[in-house]
Amino acid sequence: MEKTAQLYEGKAKKVFATADERLCIVSYKDSATAFNGEKKGTIYGKGVINNRLTNRLMRLLEENGIPTHFIEELNDRETVVRKAAIVPLEVIIRNISAGSFAKRFGVEEGVVFESPTFEFSYKSDALGDPLMNDYHALALGLATEPELETIRAYAFRINDILKAFLLEHGITLVDFKLEFGRLPDGTIILADEISPDTCRFWDVRTHEKLDKDRFRRDLGGVEAAYEEVLRRLLGDEK
Ligand code: TMP
Repeated sequence: MEKTAQLYEGKAKKVFATADERLCIVSYKDSATAFNGEKKGTIYGKGVINNRLTNRLMRLLEENGIPTHFIEELNDRETVVRKAAIVPLEVIIRNISAGSFAKRFGVEEGVVFESPTFEFSYKSDALGDPLMNDYHALALGLATEPELETIRAYAFRINDILKAFLLEHGITLVDFKLEFGRLPDGTIILADEISPDTCRFWDVRTHEKLDKDRFRRDLGGVEAAYEEVLRRLLGDEK
């Protein structure tokens, strides 16, 4: 499978067309941004790690009945995925308070919730990804009611599957962001990535941060944290 035209370049990935109009190739970059692009940097080797981690987790989800865009890992940084029209919602599940939740509601980080929370924001860099509810998404025609129901149900199931898998590898899943896409026949599938860029991962015992918060907050040891997640989840898988 070969890349043809570049379709899109985002903050962390490029997407290319292929000769098969149903498929794209995603290419993961080492560039990192935070605070809606205000902070910019490079996390060396991140593209390779996020490609491999995302694919491992997408395979796990497929095995557990979640339809995803994943088709095939081409090489270290590139993966063939199904072409889907991205629903412009950032879907966020939280198991423990952190980040914008802690800030918005004035609670410390680390409060373990009895049940996970669900929220989404409008995927719009120009507007700074504002938080929205179902009515807002429906009013703007971003998704239909049944689509929102499907997305919500998948998101909670994905949380259960990922949480259990990560725990087996010594990682607490604090929160994460998902994006979904629509196939031409209307089927909703999981798209985008699942990586330390888009999840908060804490060491289960020490609560050490093993994710992009190390970059966002200048904590140092950014590359080492990404490598540690790769080592724990893929071990000696090559
Ligand atoms: P938040 O606490 O900043 O709202 O982030 C919640 C989760 O979503 C966290 O795991 C990081 C992830 N996230 C993204 O993947 N992209 C983003 O643009 C933001 C703001 C958060």
